[in-house]
Amino acid sequence: MFPAEILDRLVAEELEGHFPCATIGRRIIVLEQTTSTNDAILQVPTANSDAGLVLFAEHQTAGRGQRGNRWEAAAGKGLWFSILLRPKIQINDSGRLTIWAIEAISDVIRMEFSLEPAIKLPNDIQLYGRKVAGVLVEMRAQEKAPHLAVVGVGINVNQSVEDFPPELQNRAISLAMALHRSINRQQFATAVLRHLDRTYCEQFVRADCSRGR
Ligand code: BTN
Repeated sequence: MFPAEILDRLVAEELEGHFPCATIGRRIIVLEQTTSTNDAILQVPTANSDAGLVLFAEHQTAGRGQRGNRWEAAAGKGLWFSILLRPKIQINDSGRLTIWAIEAISDVIRMEFSLEPAIKLPNDIQLYGRKVAGVLVEMRAQEKAPHLAVVGVGINVNQSVEDFPPELQNRAISLAMALHRSINRQQFATAVLRHLDRTYCEQFVRADCSRGR
């Protein structure tokens, strides 16, 4: 165990305070437990203006990965969240969202921790050949409106090797394992959401959005 992690909780109001003018993060929900954040976010009553809603869960009981795989999400140890978006793209272009999210998360890992993550398409980020994060994009067609996209993100943050099931112990890694110290998840979540917001704006909304964010 990495000791400082014990008091490390995600607090929605504090996180939201960093993003009053953003798209991604203007509204944030933190659940103690849910099945999958990708499902839970679609049950939140939303208006069209709620694009950018972010829903974290401290624990997922039925987290999903690509190709129907189960995603192991140890309680309180990672960042497990989904973002609701309404990008003006076709359903069959959802790969653009996956690449955007993977590149943004990989950039933050590099910038915050001076680590060298490797992107393994279609949806993995690896450190030292082991998976540290993954992205699962699911889209829902809408008539006469931009389609709904749910961008699900799982980042292994404070797990020790024993927190992974035996079959994953030589294939998965957390940031704490790579750095030999615990990570403040609230600060890291802020950095991740800030970079996701900026790059989403640049790639999917307009080109002049680096100012004021
Ligand atoms: C993969 O690498 O296969 C994708 C993993 C995506 C996991 C995240 S955790 C938050 C969100 N909710 C889910 O059920 N899955 C994604």
